[in-house]
Amino acid sequence: MYEISEKLRELLAADLPVAVLTGAGVSAESGVPTFRGDEGLWKQFQPEELANVDAFLANPELVWNWYQYRRNIISQVEPNQGHFSLAKMEKRLSSFTLITQNVDDLHRRAGSRNILELHGNIVRNKCIKCGRQYENLPESEEVPQCECGGLIRPDVVWFGEMLPQDIIQKAFLAAEKASVFFSIGTSALVQPAASLPVMAKNRGAYLVEINVEPTVLSSHADEFLQGKSGEVLPVIIRECGLE
Ligand code: OAD
Repeated sequence: MYEISEKLRELLAADLPVAVLTGAGVSAESGVPTFRGDEGLWKQFQPEELANVDAFLANPELVWNWYQYRRNIISQVEPNQGHFSLAKMEKRLSSFTLITQNVDDLHRRAGSRNILELHGNIVRNKCIKCGRQYENLPESEEVPQCECGGLIRPDVVWFGEMLPQDIIQKAFLAAEKASVFFSIGTSALVQPAASLPVMAKNRGAYLVEINVEPTVLSSHADEFLQGKSGEVLPVIIRECGLE
């Protein structure tokens, strides 16, 4: 069983501002592969090799098909108890911000509403030439083309690209304001998301990490809860009276 500290119970009971950063690990129990680690590999490619504009321009079909592969998985899976627990937390707390690196839409499907999607959302696409947005295009192995002739790409943030400025600003504000910051299911390796928990801690937040294994962040955390987010989060919700 997971040991939830008295300190965490007190902070959550006091209804202080909470911010959460999630990564691919939160969706792992739904059956969405993470990016890193053996299970994260798709045809032996590392995410950095595929999730960038140069890779798309050099081999659009390869990159498009990687996203099609991820979309197919996502369309067949359901949110898990980790997603549902975070949606419950949002309903119970007066100030709650969910910051996610995930593009899979599962937080929204679980009922979360105040979500900052740092890396975009995989259901959307956009033309690389004119920027026109397209949602839920029919499945195809070939890269679709916009009416203007440009190739259509997923509307997600790739390595080397700027994050949406308004969203990252809101995320930093929430981290600054947070009394409790949870980092859940992320390897905490990709910037600028990875600096949010450290920044929150430097500003006085109580930092809680939930992960199946220690990460680069673990030594900074006030509390490291080792386990699956779909198992640890329901315990927190139950034991801290947030059900
Ligand atoms: P990673 O694949 O780097 O890390 C997933 C983390 O989840 C690892 O630390 C695992 O130990 C942990 N994990 C796995 N299963 C878990 C479970 N059931 N419960 C809790 N933790 C679990 O994924 P991210 O950190 O999300 O960016 O990767 C960050 C970014 O890198 C992604 O948004 C994506 C990627 O390349 C872009 O595409 C721009």
